[in-house]
Amino acid sequence: MSANVETRSGARRAGAAEARAWRLGSAGVGAALVLLLLVNVAMGDLRPSAGFGLAYGVLAAVAMLGAAALAVRRRTMRLSTRLGLGRTRAWLYFHLYGGTLFALLVLMHTGFQLPAGVLGWWLWLLSLWTVLTGFLGLALQQWIPKALGSGLGLEVHYDRIPELVAELRDRAEELASTASEPVRQLHQRQVAPELAAPTRRWRYFIDPTGSIHARLRAFEYLRGLLGGDDRDGVTELEALLRAKLEMDAHYTLQWALRSWLYLHVPTSLVLVVLVVVHVGTIVYY
Ligand code: HEM
Repeated sequence: MSANVETRSGARRAGAAEARAWRLGSAGVGAALVLLLLVNVAMGDLRPSAGFGLAYGVLAAVAMLGAAALAVRRRTMRLSTRLGLGRTRAWLYFHLYGGTLFALLVLMHTGFQLPAGVLGWWLWLLSLWTVLTGFLGLALQQWIPKALGSGLGLEVHYDRIPELVAELRDRAEELASTASEPVRQLHQRQVAPELAAPTRRWRYFIDPTGSIHARLRAFEYLRGLLGGDDRDGVTELEALLRAKLEMDAHYTLQWALRSWLYLHVPTSLVLVVLVVVHVGTIVYY
C-alpha cells in the first residue's frame, strides 16, 4: 500500500520535473529567438526571403510539422514505440511548446507585417487561428475537469446522459401521478419541462454550481409552506431536478471538451497542406 503511494508520488515528481524542463527549455529557445531578432533588426533586413527571414520560415515549418506529428504518433502507437520514437507525452509537450514557438517564428518570418497576396493571408490567418484554438483547448482541458469535479455531486459519462435523464423523467412522472395537487403542479410547471431532454446552457461556463442552486430556490420556499407527504414529494422532485441540472452541466462542459478539437484540427491540417504548397512554390521557382 505505502509502496504504491510512494510510486505514485515519485511518478508525480518525475512528471512535474519533466514539465518544468520543457517549460524552461522552451523559454530558453524563445529568448534565443528574440535575441536573434534583435540582432536581425540591428542589421536592418526583415524581409521573409532574406537570410534571417528565410531561416525563421524554415524553423516555423519544422515546428509546425513537429506539432502536427502528434496526430501521427497517436495513430501509430505500436509502430512508433517499436521504432523508439519517444513517449506520447514528450510529443504532446513538443506540440504545445513547439506550436507556441511556431507562432513567434511566423511573426518573425513575416517581419511583424501583415501578409501580402491570397496565399499569404490564408497562411497567416490559419496560423493565428490554429494557435488561438490550441490555447482555447488547453484552457478548457485545464479548467473543465476541475469545474466538474469541485462543486457537483455527480460524475457521469457523456454518452449515458440521455438515458439517465430519461430515468429521472420516468421517476418524476411516477411520483407526480400519486401526489397531491400542489406537488403535481410543481412537477408540471417546474420539473417536467426541465426533464424533457438534456440541455446545454452557456451559464454553466460561468458558474456550474451557482446556477443550479439559484434554480432550486423555489423548492425551499414551497417546502416551508407544505407539510407531511407533500414536503417529501417536493424534496424528491428537488433531488431529481438537481440531478438533471448537474447532468446538464456535464452535458454542456463535456461537450465543449470534446468539440473544441473541431475548431483546431481541421484548420490545422489545411494549414499543413498550405505550408507544403508555400514551401513547394518557393523551392520550385
Ligand atoms: C503548429 C501549429 C499546430 C498544429 C498543426 C496543431 C495540430 C493539432 C492536431 C492535428 C491535433 C490532434 C492530435 C491528435 O489527433 O491526437 C492537435 C491537438 C491539440 N492541440 Fe494543436 N496544433 C498546433 C498548435 C497548437 C498550440 C499552439 C496549442 C496550445 C498551446 C495546441 C494545443 C493542442 C491541444 C491541447 C491538443 C489536444 C491534445 C490532446 O490532449 O490530445 N496546438 N493539434
